[in-house]
Amino acid sequence: MSIRIGDEAPNFTAETTEGPINFHEWLGSSWGVLFSHPRDYTPVCTTELGAAARLKPEFDKRNVKVIGLSVDPLQDHLGWTKDIEETQNCTMNFPMIADPDKTVANLYEMIHPNASDTFTVRSVFVIGADKKIKLTLTYPASTGRNFAEILRVIDSLQLTAKHQVATPVNWQNGEDVIIVPALSDEAAKEKFPEGWKTVKPYLRVVKQPQ
Ligand code: BEZ
Repeated sequence: MSIRIGDEAPNFTAETTEGPINFHEWLGSSWGVLFSHPRDYTPVCTTELGAAARLKPEFDKRNVKVIGLSVDPLQDHLGWTKDIEETQNCTMNFPMIADPDKTVANLYEMIHPNASDTFTVRSVFVIGADKKIKLTLTYPASTGRNFAEILRVIDSLQLTAKHQVATPVNWQNGEDVIIVPALSDEAAKEKFPEGWKTVKPYLRVVKQPQ
């Protein structure tokens, strides 16, 4: 059974580069990004982990904890960390799960056997403060992910959670947003007293709430 948006993020215990964790306890009241990379000591993964580490201030601003995973053992993660720091202008500042028995990889269906029955694909799960899955992404091993896009989606998700707005195509933080259809005009008047532009009754555009 695959993990879908709205499901509770499955809990697990695991060894990480920052010690053993219980995933839900480790998340606490934060949002989370759990992402898998196929193998240690591989080039694309090295660049992705460096990028994620350099973006820590951006994740912190959004109250998001980041955690990586590969099916290699802890010793490999620790050795590889030195390479990542040496080559990617970063300090590794988030834990990486060591999952050599594939417990977490299987729980989150990160292994797609027709791609590889040994290593994970590049999965991303964004998890809300309520421990629910908010986004799933799956990239092939050969394509590095776009972490700016992951931050963009988190901004959109957090706006929706707080202000009942949705974000249009190619939206970037600071641009106009859309009042969710579930909010009546009556209710919208209370939430957005400065008004909005009705392009169609179902397409109501409003300045991005702060
Ligand atoms: C990489 O991370 O560079 C990689 C891993 C598996 C297949 C292709 C690339």
